[in-house]
Amino acid sequence: MSTTCRPQVYVIECAPWSEALKCRIRGMSDTPRQTEAFLAHTAEIAAAFPTSVRAACADLRAGRGPVALWLRGLPRPEALPPTPADCRQPPPRTDCIAEACLAAVGHLVGHAFAHAQICKGDLFHNIAPVPGEEHAPSGESSKSTLRMHTDGASHPMPPDALLLWCHKGDKRAATTIVSGAEVLDRMDPRDREQLRSTSFRHQLDYEFHLAHSDAHTDPHPVFEGDGEALRVTYDADFIRPFPTVSAGLLKRLEDTMVRAAEHVFLEPGDLLVIDNRRAIHGRTKFTPHYDGRDRWLQCLYTRTDPLVPPPGVRMRGRVASLDLPTKGQSSAA
Ligand SMILES: [Fe+2]
Repeated sequence: MSTTCRPQVYVIECAPWSEALKCRIRGMSDTPRQTEAFLAHTAEIAAAFPTSVRAACADLRAGRGPVALWLRGLPRPEALPPTPADCRQPPPRTDCIAEACLAAVGHLVGHAFAHAQICKGDLFHNIAPVPGEEHAPSGESSKSTLRMHTDGASHPMPPDALLLWCHKGDKRAATTIVSGAEVLDRMDPRDREQLRSTSFRHQLDYEFHLAHSDAHTDPHPVFEGDGEALRVTYDADFIRPFPTVSAGLLKRLEDTMVRAAEHVFLEPGDLLVIDNRRAIHGRTKFTPHYDGRDRWLQCLYTRTDPLVPPPGVRMRGRVASLDLPTKGQSSAA
């Protein structure tokens, strides 16, 4: 339950136009989902979305208003295969509703792209509990809380927004979302000052890759800018403060995030858009059963710029490859 005074998640009921959307998507099943033709078709679909939906997406893209959009009641397929045991190898599906909805909404908030290190650069990567990863600091976990983070905190090209499609939900697994501005408001002025200083680095994320776990980012603040230009870079599992940072700061920060977070329980046909620049998110713990009915999401990343790679990143089409340092080499002295 939220205790905030600032709305963080804006709910959009899509059921009234869901059937019309399903009809428009039906003709796309034969178009390969990772192609520009598929994305172009979904851009046409997005242009026909209700004005209110396009306006909400435009606001989020511009950094205005709520930090997340929760679209509910989107079309659902007649049948779904079992939740994959390994989400890196999802089962084939005949429908493309998830990818079409992700790409269409994604078009309204930015340019779709992928990280090469996540599911081999799949634009629509799958998220589900993986046996043996129950306590991992990644979306493949389940029995441990996925702690508060921004996606790609250690990557030079993080997503500006992430879009989550829900194939199958779990009543115990909440996506937790908190506005960076709300967190800053609740912190002590001295803590705020430290969080805005370049006194932090991130160890390279688990996903980018275990073999390079001794590499770090350059020093950076957790919070930069204000208002529409606020930028948060934070991953509770991988942030490494300098010794000058006061003891207990990160504990106070995470406690504040958790207290202020809204809980979103995704259900089939839901699509959640999170502004990864202004918001921090996580997930509560739940019990996987590995019986084909576990929670199963699909995720799309977007950038608001036209996919211009920063130093250290190479683009191949829409896939961003990170030039990883060799083992034992730190990216920051
Ligand atoms: Fe995440």
